[in-house]
Amino acid sequence: MAPSSIFAGALLAFYLATPGSAAAVQKVSSVSDAGAPLFTNEQLQLTEHILSTAAPNHTALFDFAKNSSLSVRSRNECKAYPGDAAWPSNFVWTLFDELLGGALIKTVPLAAACYSSWPEYDSDECDTITADWTDSNLHAADPASVMWPLFEGRTCLPTTNASASCTVGGYSSYAVNVSNVAQVQLAVNFARNANLRLVVKNTGHDFNGKSTGAGALGVWTHHLKDIDYIKNYKSRTYQGPAVKMGAGVQAHEIYEKANELGFTAVGGEGKTVGVAGGYVLGGGHSPMSSMYGLAADQVLALEVVLANGRFVTVTEETDPDLFWAIRGGGGGTFGIVTSVISRVHPKVGVTVSTFSFATSTNVSADTFWAGIRSYVERFPAYADAGTYAYFWVIATGTDSFEFLMNPFFATNHTLAEYNALVEPWYKDLADLGISITPNSTYYDNYYDAWMAGFPLETVASSVMMTGSRLFPRANWETTYSFNSTFDALRTTVTAGYALLAFNMKAELQDGYPSNSANPAFRNTLLHAITSTSWSSTANNTAIKDQMETFTNDVMGIWRATCPDAGAYMSESDILEPNFKEAFYGSNYARLWKLKQIYDPTFLFYAPTGVGSDNWVVNSEDGLPDQNGRLCRV
Ligand SMILES: Cc1cc2nc3c(=O)[nH]c(=O)nc-3n(C[C@H](O)[C@H](O)[C@H](O)COP(=O)(O)OP(=O)(O)OC[C@H]3O[C@@H](n4cnc5c(N)ncnc54)[C@H](O)[C@@H]3O)c2cc1C
Ligand SMILES: *[C@@H]1O[C@H](CO)[C@@H](O)[C@H](O)[C@H]1NC(C)=O
Ligand SMILES: *[C@@H]1O[C@H](CO)[C@@H](O)[C@H](O)[C@H]1NC(C)=O
Ligand SMILES: *[C@@H]1O[C@H](CO)[C@@H](O)[C@H](O)[C@H]1NC(C)=O
Ligand SMILES: *[C@@H]1O[C@H](CO)[C@@H](O)[C@H](O)[C@H]1NC(C)=O
Ligand SMILES: *[C@@H]1O[C@H](CO)[C@@H](O)[C@H](O)[C@H]1NC(C)=O
Ligand SMILES: *[C@@H]1O[C@H](CO)[C@@H](O)[C@H](O)[C@H]1NC(C)=O
Ligand SMILES: *[C@@H]1O[C@H](CO)[C@@H](O)[C@H](O)[C@H]1NC(C)=O
Ligand SMILES: *[C@@H]1O[C@H](CO)[C@@H](O)[C@H](O)[C@H]1NC(C)=O
Ligand SMILES: *[C@@H]1O[C@H](CO)[C@@H](O)[C@H](O)[C@H]1NC(C)=O
Repeated sequence: MAPSSIFAGALLAFYLATPGSAAAVQKVSSVSDAGAPLFTNEQLQLTEHILSTAAPNHTALFDFAKNSSLSVRSRNECKAYPGDAAWPSNFVWTLFDELLGGALIKTVPLAAACYSSWPEYDSDECDTITADWTDSNLHAADPASVMWPLFEGRTCLPTTNASASCTVGGYSSYAVNVSNVAQVQLAVNFARNANLRLVVKNTGHDFNGKSTGAGALGVWTHHLKDIDYIKNYKSRTYQGPAVKMGAGVQAHEIYEKANELGFTAVGGEGKTVGVAGGYVLGGGHSPMSSMYGLAADQVLALEVVLANGRFVTVTEETDPDLFWAIRGGGGGTFGIVTSVISRVHPKVGVTVSTFSFATSTNVSADTFWAGIRSYVERFPAYADAGTYAYFWVIATGTDSFEFLMNPFFATNHTLAEYNALVEPWYKDLADLGISITPNSTYYDNYYDAWMAGFPLETVASSVMMTGSRLFPRANWETTYSFNSTFDALRTTVTAGYALLAFNMKAELQDGYPSNSANPAFRNTLLHAITSTSWSSTANNTAIKDQMETFTNDVMGIWRATCPDAGAYMSESDILEPNFKEAFYGSNYARLWKLKQIYDPTFLFYAPTGVGSDNWVVNSEDGLPDQNGRLCRV
């Protein structure tokens, strides 16, 4: 007996030191009900069989949900947090990493190189990170970083003071660098079984900190880059060209592919936004929206890992409820999408025009605003012509203002057609004595127009927050409502809040199946964003006061002009009052019902997501960020 028990003990010791498991992944066939085969990385899946072979003594940690375990947990419960007794041991993290095939990354904050308390300290690297901090690519390429550090908790910003503090804070504790479906399933099962907070991070663009969370296990989808063009996609409701995109595909990547193959995709204006991730799942407005609606409207099928760990195909036929909910109901809410199949459109020509005007000795503030008014009055005509425009109106001093057309994106308009469209407005400007020198160029394809029209986004300010509103067409229908809309915009800008806005529409096209995107999108003519900012030395109490004043008073003026409209969840105010009505409108009740069916243990939490009001993060700095333990309210 003795020798064998010594042997068993030695083996156990060895096992604890190095779990020695193989990656838990099994190759299955490419067949899918989606109307296109699975990507190779989607054929690599987790099965009960492979799990029991790879981790025979630990299946309970990584196993799929059983129906019986789907019962809702007790109230007042918190997700496990680093330092808790319930937090997984190093042994378990190592085992998890092995089952993942080495894809687990322990979070080192992106700016750790600036801090002498971190082994990563390296002043040259710090200089690079500091210089690139506002470049979205830097954060998209990091497993845990996000583009709104305010909502992470500002725990590790670039600095020249190497002895200042840098902590993991509101960043996820670990991230899985996903390259196959099995890894997503393992992460989902592990997080659910170990009561861990789970976050999905794709690019990290989210305005409200939805892709970060203290103590979370992150699922990083950035490297799921496959793109397949499907020349003749067929479903019950659609026949025509489509594209299947991995969840990590970014706007510039699908546009490059579309240009190469001669089609037009509905994606965002932002260059690095994740078109098959949070963007499309939250609705997704596009330079093509006035012609074809939202990005979510284009979706024909998705491959998804559900909260129970199962990998499913979601179409109108396979699961009409989830098909409705996941297209527009918000990222990080119903499951982790590994790919999306979306309809695409014929090649289109676009005229791109940029110009600006400002108050001057010859242009008074009233004249300036008359020029703006002449523009805003034409929003119905411009959106109905299928165009999209991104413009800014900013105060440059007391009674001095500047307007920037950044750009007017006239889809399906030749230069002559564009000039005819804007001629009445240009004439008004000339009559007012406002001179402009438009730089207008026709491109025979979307890609070149988009490249010329939209600069790379600047991100990662930690001293500002935003708010937005989807102003409805009704506000243009009477002089009274138009005046109150226009006055609200003028008041906001005059008070020093910049207006960054989109004149567009996003109607559901005939024959497209309905979805859960915010109904306020369907009749909007203006998606307007504004922001407030503070000094980098402001204390947390002052920041909080300023945020609340912004939300209630500044944004309150906009809400008052259209109390029944809403706001776009993906470019919004984290403190939006009545966020359910504002971000989801009449869809909320059905979304909440489905949330409880598909995610009964509330594995997927995202701030302002469906059901998020049942949870709270008590943040360390008292601001509405993700640097704190996630608990049920
Ligand atoms: C500079 C800039 C430009 C923008 N331009 C546009 C624009 O033109 N049009 C527009 O509509 N919006 C735009 N947005 C808003 C953008 O749509 C949102 O920020 C969106 O959340 C980004 O999705 P993401 O996957 O890139 O980002 P992430 O922050 O990584 O993810 C956002 C949310 O989606 C979830 N999520 C991501 N991937 C998945 C997945 N595979 N499965 C399940 N959930 C997932 C995350 O958990 C998170 O909740 C812009 C934002 C910025 C900062
Ligand atoms: C699993 O546990 C059993 C019993 O404790 C042990 O005999 C066996 O070696 C373990 N298997 C592995 C792979 O560790
Ligand atoms: C749960 O049980 C129902 C009915 O018994 C069954 O249809 C369903 O597939 C089960 N779900 C899972 C995840 O096992
Ligand atoms: C650097 O940070 C440390 C620690 O927070 C602080 O004590 C010190 O005053 C800071 N130095 C400067 C120059 O800001
Ligand atoms: C993540 O995985 C991809 C392969 O899918 C690899 O190219 C990349 O270097 C990995 N990134 C990190 C930070 O480990
Ligand atoms: C203002 O008008 C005068 C006279 O028409 C003109 O000479 C001058 O260039 C104008 N200034 C600006 C800033 O447009
Ligand atoms: C583009 O514009 C032309 C008219 O110039 C119109 O006939 C055509 O239908 C438009 N294309 C689309 C896709 O709307
Ligand atoms: C006009 O705009 C294009 C981009 O569309 C740009 O390349 C060009 O430099 C601009 N010309 C002028 C004179 O500003
Ligand atoms: C709307 O505003 C215009 C311009 O200020 C003004 O002339 C008009 O009387 C206003 N109409 C109403 C109904 O308020
Ligand atoms: C925070 O800043 C405000 C405004 O500058 C100031 O009035 C207040 O006393 C400060 N509070 C603390 C706790 O420092």
